Amino acid sequence: MFSPNCGNDENSCVLGIETSCDDTAAAVLVDGVLRSSIISSQSEHIPFGGVVPELASRAHDRHLVPVVEAALHEAGIQAGDLTGIAVTRGPGLIGSLMVGVSFAKSLAAGLGVPLVGVHHLDGHIDSLLLGGTPPERPTLVLVVSGGHTQLMTVNASGERQLLGKTRDDAAGEAFDKVAAILGLDYPGGPVIDRLAMTGNPSFHAFPRTRLAGYDWSFSGIKTSMLYHLGSMDAPARAAYLEKHLQDLCASFQEAVVDMLITPVVRAMKQTGFRSVGLVGGVSANSRLRARLGSEVEARGGHLHVPELSYSMDNAAMIALSGCLRLTRGEQDPLSITAQPSLPMDLRP
Ligand SMILES: Nc1ncnc2c1ncn2[C@@H]1O[C@H](COP(=O)(O)OP(=O)(O)OP(=O)(O)O)[C@@H](O)[C@H]1O
Ligand SMILES: [Mg+2]
Repeated sequence: MFSPNCGNDENSCVLGIETSCDDTAAAVLVDGVLRSSIISSQSEHIPFGGVVPELASRAHDRHLVPVVEAALHEAGIQAGDLTGIAVTRGPGLIGSLMVGVSFAKSLAAGLGVPLVGVHHLDGHIDSLLLGGTPPERPTLVLVVSGGHTQLMTVNASGERQLLGKTRDDAAGEAFDKVAAILGLDYPGGPVIDRLAMTGNPSFHAFPRTRLAGYDWSFSGIKTSMLYHLGSMDAPARAAYLEKHLQDLCASFQEAVVDMLITPVVRAMKQTGFRSVGLVGGVSANSRLRARLGSEVEARGGHLHVPELSYSMDNAAMIALSGCLRLTRGEQDPLSITAQPSLPMDLRP
């Protein structure tokens, strides 16, 4: 597998654990090289159109041990070979986080190895180092996921600065909510992306909310879809969706992509940075990748995007973030707890 640039950390064997939402994941990095990455996604939530926290924590409880065993097995190591444990500490769903954090603390205590609690968004940002050429620094990073939409800078020493964020819904949340309005399965992002491929992005002009600076607002576009369909009675609406579902998906997606791109281009102009990263679940969106890539290249820059398997929640990014901290000699006490609203520590 890849050598993810985790410093000259020889004789290290780090287990990463991710349980912040509805994916149970474990990964192993040996001497900075990713040896395994196992993800068990929960299908229990599909009938509910969104994640049900109680079901998510119960499913993590059932899946975590087999997922960790599979990650160790695929990496060809035993638990006793581990030299460190990295776990997502927050932000996320409290019950889900507690399953991963409690397990990681017990394992670290039992094996007598250091523990690091990783901020989930640090993991997404570090996913840019998993494979391919690492982005040059300073980097502008667009974090766009189910729970977050943020624009950050990462300087040469890895320090982060927040430039802007969404004032209401995250972009992934907008995809999921609009998918629910259209009667599509959860998670809605991949479904809309697929349907949009055969739709007309100019079919309907959804409003583009544009704020000064680097902030976003995605609540208006969701309401706009509700009003658009709400003006029809049930049979008319069914006939309209039968004919124009793909067009609506393409038009909605185009508006979200337009909105996401504007602050990034503004930040490129104002900072002069040419290296741009796109991370988080929505970075899997084909239209966003293509359009942001063209905009960045048109300005002499380069867009870095993780491989698709490391865009969505995964433990490889958590193992890597933890490995980087362990390499710097950092670790956390066994008294750390799951933090559903963990603020980001902007230092490297
Ligand atoms: N191809 C795609 N197009 C658009 N959105 C997508 C695509 N694939 C996944 N998504 C969206 O990505 C989100 C999931 O991303 P991720 O797993 O990183 O979020 P999360 O972990 O729930 O939130 P956070 O990372 O903010 O805690 C969902 O909202 C999903 O709809
Ligand atoms: Mg995530």
